[in-house]
Amino acid sequence: MEGKEISLLDRYTDWYSIMKNLEVFLHILFILLMITIFLTSAGAWSFMLVTLIAYVAILVHKVMKKKRNRIAKKHFIKDRLVYFIKANSLYEEGIRESEQRDNQGRWKTVREKYISNSAVFSYEQTDRKLIVYAHKNADNFTAKMSQLEEGLSALFGLPVERVVNRNTLVEYHLVIAPPERLDVSVISEISMVDGLDINLGYGVTYNPVKCPHILVSGGTGSGKSVFISFLLLEFIRRESTVYICDPKASDLGSLSHYIGDEKIATTPNNIARVVRLVVTEMKERYAFMNANFKYGSNFADHNYSPIWLVFDEMGAFQASGTDKKSKELVNEVMDGLKQVILLGRQSGIFCLISAQQMNANTLNTDLRDNLGLRIALGANSSEGYRMIFGSATPENIPPIETKGAGLLYMQGSGEECAKYWESPYVDMKKFDFIAELKKLL
Ligand SMILES: Nc1ncnc2c1ncn2[C@@H]1O[C@H](COP(=O)(O)OP(=O)(O)O)[C@@H](O)[C@H]1O
Ligand SMILES: [Mg+2]
Repeated sequence: MEGKEISLLDRYTDWYSIMKNLEVFLHILFILLMITIFLTSAGAWSFMLVTLIAYVAILVHKVMKKKRNRIAKKHFIKDRLVYFIKANSLYEEGIRESEQRDNQGRWKTVREKYISNSAVFSYEQTDRKLIVYAHKNADNFTAKMSQLEEGLSALFGLPVERVVNRNTLVEYHLVIAPPERLDVSVISEISMVDGLDINLGYGVTYNPVKCPHILVSGGTGSGKSVFISFLLLEFIRRESTVYICDPKASDLGSLSHYIGDEKIATTPNNIARVVRLVVTEMKERYAFMNANFKYGSNFADHNYSPIWLVFDEMGAFQASGTDKKSKELVNEVMDGLKQVILLGRQSGIFCLISAQQMNANTLNTDLRDNLGLRIALGANSSEGYRMIFGSATPENIPPIETKGAGLLYMQGSGEECAKYWESPYVDMKKFDFIAELKKLL
């Protein structure tokens, strides 16, 4: 949606000025009236009349001012853009000649200026963003349309978050309200279940069907486990079955008590068993869905709920492949993961992988590119980011200082590269993960 086109070519009714002039006119009228009454009569009656008129004048002023402000607000963006076109000479004038009679009845050639061409803008506004579209109409202004970042930012006094240069227009995304971090210790911010959408805070909504599989990377202490715990609750809240592989046997592994022994693994053998279980389930789902084929359907149409295979610290597991036998095990698990990554979406089976460091041995780039949501927590080198985001690595990397902050890239979000993001804030003192989990099971 790009809204109505704004240019100098349209006749433009300046209601704000009309209102203002009308108001001045009314005020003069009131004053003249008061003076007349004052001069022509005397006594208590005239005093009362003048007071009354003054009262009415104040009332009219108040009402009109309110109305005027409403108009100003409603037309604010349009007015600013019209001003912008004028102030930056983003229009062309021509001269129009016409034959007219003068007051003696003689024909005369009259020349008048008119606007022959103008840059065209449109806009869209949400609570968080103002997107200004500068249209490229293959005219004198086309080249300029991609160079308005500074000007538009100054025009509205808002920072430009992103510029998207398309074939026929340039989008300027101006930030009205900076994105806010989700605070999980605040009950009202615990997301309401709305289909499979998960609010990740900071203006990001994640849906596994639109964007299957998640990669979370970051050094020790960067917040991987805290974020994964948050996601676990969100998955379970959406009726998903969760399998957990935790080769470091940290907090996640200890959830077997609540989620079930058979779904949680910490040893290589057990991890292989869990992955096998998930792959088998995926094959069964496919077999069933093929036997009951419905064109364009997915798992939800067959009443399957999502399955999440959560694999924390994948690098640690791969490093466990030291002898021939354990290497085989690692290969088997990686092969299973690969199948889930490539084929899981249709059958509702997704994986969430965390790793400290990514390299070609952890996951090759083909597989990596099939992980729809990729997050790098904590500060990283630009080579490190490149391993995670590939061509979506931003040129300028913002400073990352907050705990749990990092860069996020979501396929299909329209963003060209990874951007700054803060993971949902979990106040360990207030938030009881196990208690929340128990409520859901
Ligand atoms: N989203 C967050 N909200 C609040 N504290 C966080 C968050 N992420 C990380 N932390 C803090 O950082 C510590 C380490 O996070 P953790 O998830 O264990 O790191 P990792 O698993 O990457 O080694 C946590 O114990 C917590 O104190
Ligand atoms: Mg951890």
